[in-house]
Amino acid sequence: MIFHFKYPRKALRKLLFLLNKPILARVPPSILFTNWIFQRLLGINRSVPISVHYTSRIKGYKNMQLGDSVKYSFAVSASANIVVSDGTKLEVGENTIFAQNVCIRTSNHDLIDRTKYHKKSVKIGRNVWLAHGVVVLPGVSIGDNSTIGANSVVSRDIPPNVVAVGIPAKPIKTITVK
Ligand SMILES: CC(C)(COP(=O)(O)OP(=O)(O)OC[C@H]1O[C@@H](n2cnc3c(N)ncnc32)[C@H](O)[C@@H]1OP(=O)(O)O)[C@@H](O)C(=O)NCCC(=O)NCCS
Repeated sequence: MIFHFKYPRKALRKLLFLLNKPILARVPPSILFTNWIFQRLLGINRSVPISVHYTSRIKGYKNMQLGDSVKYSFAVSASANIVVSDGTKLEVGENTIFAQNVCIRTSNHDLIDRTKYHKKSVKIGRNVWLAHGVVVLPGVSIGDNSTIGANSVVSRDIPPNVVAVGIPAKPIKTITVK
């Protein structure tokens, strides 16, 4: 049964999926509208072609390769701070989600000469969950299906199918993927 006349919101969601507009189905229109005002009228994150929460800062979007579904996560993730420097890449796989206050960087200042940068790309796999306040440092990769716990700092590669927590983030358990 496709339409639920008793539940108009459910019916609208299904219709939007059928019309291939999943972002409208998943993200409340009020958030999309507010994001639009901040991005297009007020110029915050104007260079970002996807809907981004107005409290987030996204720089270097052209250097990002995002799975389609990740674009919904950006729309609702508040206070994300993601800077992808030119000459580096951020790859994020399908179904990966961002909680609030996630920070991702792809460059370090030189430890002596602050005018120099050391740049390294970041790769985040599919179906990863970056929990509240996770910081991902330049050069790391996070494997598919892994969860990074709140306030963790990812400074070394994280394998697939684990829960990793802490500073530095280290695996504490393995997840069985069916
Ligand atoms: C990572 C997380 C999902 C793990 O949950 P879990 O599998 O139920 O893990 P547990 O609660 O059993 O904790 C296991 C151990 O890791 C520790 N731990 C859990 N999360 C931690 C974190 N973020 N940082 C440091 N240690 C952590 C626990 O203290 C526990 O240690 P112990 O065995 O010495 O007691 C959860 O702790 C977390 O960080 N949630 C994020 C919530 C959030 O950001 N929500 C936003 C929604 S978008």
